[in-house]
Amino acid sequence: MIPFVKNKGLAFRVKSSKIQGKGAFATKRIAPGRRLVEYTGERIGPKQERLRYIDEDMARHHTFLFSIDDHITIDGAVGGSEARFINHSCDPNCEAVEEDERIYIEAIRNIQPGKEICYDYGFEVDEEDLEEEIPRYPCRCGADKCRGTILKINKRTQKKFKHLLHQ
Ligand SMILES: C[S@@+](CC[C@H](N)C(=O)[O-])C[C@H]1O[C@@H](n2cnc3c(N)ncnc32)[C@H](O)[C@@H]1O
Ligand SMILES: [Zn+2]
Repeated sequence: MIPFVKNKGLAFRVKSSKIQGKGAFATKRIAPGRRLVEYTGERIGPKQERLRYIDEDMARHHTFLFSIDDHITIDGAVGGSEARFINHSCDPNCEAVEEDERIYIEAIRNIQPGKEICYDYGFEVDEEDLEEEIPRYPCRCGADKCRGTILKINKRTQKKFKHLLHQ
């Protein structure tokens, strides 16, 4: 079930996205550098995160987690802001900026009204786990330079795991 969505006071609204589920779409022209929203939610540690979410149980990874470091993760599913609906793109128009252990989503390009706003999730997994993890993280951002996965992998790794990447 999609929780209640507030759009008031934001430069974007949340609605159905071609990328996946719901996404965030600009409602006005947005200039580069503009801070759009803080990624809020319950702040949890690694133990709590493991208890709440078991990656191996998800055929396709889907959470509202944002990891700040090895000790703090924001769980947007618990009291989180609309930032939790912003999808990933391999060619993003926004970025996530950390300031004093808080996360803000900021525009890095001019964004026209109606455009979906996205940032690069930059999810990292250990090299030895890629074979198993890549199929859980397909990317459907549709960018020409889409990596085929929302995981952060370089060109060499893309070549190696081409057979597993979403086309
Ligand atoms: C923070 S949620 C984003 C909102 C999500 N679309 C929704 O409706 O709940 C993150 C999840 O959305 C999905 N997602 C985000 N960007 C994606 C992309 N480019 N391709 C495929 N799935 C994506 C993944 O399942 C990811 O774990
Ligand atoms: Zn992509």
